Amino acid sequence: MSEKPLLSSFDIDGLVEYIKSERCKKITFMVGAGISVSAGIPDFRSPGTGLYYTLQEYNLPDPMSIFSIDYLKENPTPFYSFQKNLIPGIYKPTPTHYFMKLIEQKNLLGTIWTQNIDGLEHLAGVPEKKIYECHGSFWTFHCLKCQRKSKLEEWRDKINKGEVLKCKSTQCLGLVKPDVVFFGENLPKKVFEDIQDKVFESDLILIIGTSLAVTPFSGFFELAARDTVRVLINREAVGTCPIRVTENGGEKIIQVNQNYQRRFFFQCPEINFRDIFLQGDCDDVIYQICDKLGWRDELDQLISQ
Ligand code: OAD
Repeated sequence: MSEKPLLSSFDIDGLVEYIKSERCKKITFMVGAGISVSAGIPDFRSPGTGLYYTLQEYNLPDPMSIFSIDYLKENPTPFYSFQKNLIPGIYKPTPTHYFMKLIEQKNLLGTIWTQNIDGLEHLAGVPEKKIYECHGSFWTFHCLKCQRKSKLEEWRDKINKGEVLKCKSTQCLGLVKPDVVFFGENLPKKVFEDIQDKVFESDLILIIGTSLAVTPFSGFFELAARDTVRVLINREAVGTCPIRVTENGGEKIIQVNQNYQRRFFFQCPEINFRDIFLQGDCDDVIYQICDKLGWRDELDQLISQ
């Protein structure tokens, strides 16, 4: 059942050896809120500190309503009072963001698929064409009624005052919403156009700082080719084993685990041939990787620029 291992070991040394090898030419990132925590932006689901645990003052029916399109139309005040905490311009990129830039400088970057709406990948200097903001962004806005498009700078002052944004056309006065993907909305079309090919051509996928709790993003890494190495860098392990073993009259039956997405082989070491889990704070793990690659000075230089 198990296949020929793609790595000499399923740990940081195995990863470093793979990155140094001829086989690793294209690295893809899939990232979530955890990579921005050290910038001062809370993630969503960490018990106690995650955003969804700290919204009591808004009296929401459910914490996730803050990003629900139906709830926004019904009661816009909570989101508009809150959005000033999220807009780009307040926070600085983290070492993990600069690591992505370093990978680009090394000509190893395929693409970055981010669930984050903080724009820190851009601020770290990664070229726009390499970044897929899967849950949208605050860079652009549109009116929900007349669809007029606008840019963040047009609204920054009102956002900072917590005002509900209304279309400037007096005939319209519709609600103006950032192009952040709310629950109940589709991901940008470009994501679906490109995801399959870009993931399939990756030699290495680094999945960092995400609970992989939100579809369809949580399933994107499973589009990887069979010979793509996949690495999760996170505070805790997520996902399940790709196979399910059941017994029928003493006979072992091995089936593909289809009940659940987010299947990682590190969850079942006996058949692992491709996946690594590196547990910890992502910046610490990134520093360790860079130390072992001999890239630490270059990373520090990018951070200090
Ligand atoms: P979550 O808050 O669900 O998950 C963040 C993950 O990062 C958790 O597993 C944390 O343990 C881990 N983590 C936190 N700090 C870390 C650190 N310094 N180093 C490593 N790991 C760390 O955030 P996402 O998975 O990004 O959607 O959430 C996905 C989507 O859910 C978001 O994009 C958002 C939300 O609803 C929208 O806003 C549309």
